[in-house]
Amino acid sequence: MEEKIKEIAKILLNSRYAIALTGAGVSTESGIPDFRGPDGLWIKNPELERKEYEIYEKFLLDPRGYWIDVMEERRIFGGIENAMPNPSHYALAELEKMNIIKYIITQNIDNLHQKAGSKNVIDFHGNISRLRCIKCGNVYDIKEFDIQRILNEGKVPSCKKCSFPLKLDVVYFNEPIPRDVYKKALSEVIECDVMIVAGTSAEVYPAAEFPRIAKNKSNPAKIIEINAEETSLTREGISDYFIKGKTGKILPQIVDEIKKMK
Ligand code: APR
Repeated sequence: MEEKIKEIAKILLNSRYAIALTGAGVSTESGIPDFRGPDGLWIKNPELERKEYEIYEKFLLDPRGYWIDVMEERRIFGGIENAMPNPSHYALAELEKMNIIKYIITQNIDNLHQKAGSKNVIDFHGNISRLRCIKCGNVYDIKEFDIQRILNEGKVPSCKKCSFPLKLDVVYFNEPIPRDVYKKALSEVIECDVMIVAGTSAEVYPAAEFPRIAKNKSNPAKIIEINAEETSLTREGISDYFIKGKTGKILPQIVDEIKKMK
């Protein structure tokens, strides 16, 4: 393991344009459950996953009903907005400060990379602290809206530019990734020469395609996978390096090794 950490540290130190793709696994050590790991939400509660496939259509057909559900869910489950970053997030933020990680593409909606200090973050599946207008593309800080008061007045949060009902800026199943977000992420994948893939089962597309695109482009990138268990990326040989373990332990070790080498 130590040898592999050293090798990976050297690759990152010598990289021209390294990026990271992260998933729910980097936030489990912040107390947010993942989806498909051994204790994953969908594994433990398949019914919950099935319901997730209905939310986007509900928003399109009944925005008020959608918002009532959102507020109810927040009241029952509490918001992930109170969660705090863990060493996984801080390590990636430090790699950005060292100008090694140029961008993070995250599938997480929890805003924890930003809370840890990362500046260049693409929220590929959205961000819980924002609202989005799917008609004109405008995005708002959720704090701009007193949602419960708006609902009590019999209305729904609406776009200040085009008045279309707003939704949480999270991408639900069956909902397309916003074009600007997809284009930005793809351009980073095309540009990178090294990609850290951390804490993702790599089963949800289009994000799961990114390591494959990076690996199979004319100037292939080196794929460094860090996960608690093997994934399709490991099994298909997409990953050039695979470290099995917790990202909150391994990513800081890589940072420490880089510091020793500098
Ligand atoms: N360190 C390393 N790996 C971890 C850790 C940890 N601390 N905790 C969990 N894992 C691993 C799990 O074993 C699993 O393989 O992280 C992976 C998380 O995979 P998923 O739960 O499938 O999460 P993710 O890949 O981000 O899911 C993609 O699916 O449900 C949708 O929109 C949701 O963005 C999400 C998308």
